[in-house]
Amino acid sequence: MTNSPAPNHFDLNASTWDADPVKQARALAVGQAIQSQVTLSPHMQALEYGCGTGLLSFALQPQLGHITLADSSDGMLQVLNDKITANGIVNMRARKLDLVTDPLPVERYNLIYTLMTFHHIRDTDDLLRNLHALLAPSGHLCVADLDAEDGSFHGRGFDGHNGFDRRELAAKAESAGFRKPGFTTAFNMTKGEGAAQREYPVFLMVAQK
Ligand SMILES: C[S@@+](CC[C@H](N)C(=O)[O-])C[C@H]1O[C@@H](n2cnc3c(N)ncnc32)[C@H](O)[C@@H]1O
Repeated sequence: MTNSPAPNHFDLNASTWDADPVKQARALAVGQAIQSQVTLSPHMQALEYGCGTGLLSFALQPQLGHITLADSSDGMLQVLNDKITANGIVNMRARKLDLVTDPLPVERYNLIYTLMTFHHIRDTDDLLRNLHALLAPSGHLCVADLDAEDGSFHGRGFDGHNGFDRRELAAKAESAGFRKPGFTTAFNMTKGEGAAQREYPVFLMVAQK
């Protein structure tokens, strides 16, 4: 008998993740928002945290030196590795990493970005401190996630954050040591039909170490 952990929601959905045009469009829009606010360069070492299948990193990859793509889901990392190989990409490397439970890696990065992952991490103060430690001096952190919502985005049974209040997240980022956190709206999602239809804006917070 093996002791493999049970597959989670992300493992189970990894193979069909990229078939959703909204996820594709969201990653492209956030990639453009990052590029309009941070000067990217082939000298940069970057980390994407909670990368999933790597949609955002594939959009930024031509502008960056090396990208480490980190996620806790084996299913997501398997799909990502298949895409890296199929596209002959040489500057992206997948890495299994959960900053909630794993020791902090020794590498340091000029740029860290994360899309739709913060709302899955209960202790965002601790996550922000870890991401601050992983940045090289003057490095940038880019966090894209849901604005505060009423819980309808995920529905019943979800135990993460119902989005984030921008001012509260900015205060947390400053407490973790970041300078000048600034916000823009990078994308808008729509869910539901008729009277139940709702807009779910996705913010981009850019802050500096
Ligand atoms: C909503 S998905 C977003 C994936 C991708 N960023 C995108 O936008 O398509 C959230 C991702 O965060 C990952 N994740 C959740 N909790 C995590 C943790 N504690 N450490 C690392 N990754 C985590 C999940 O496995 C999943 O791939």
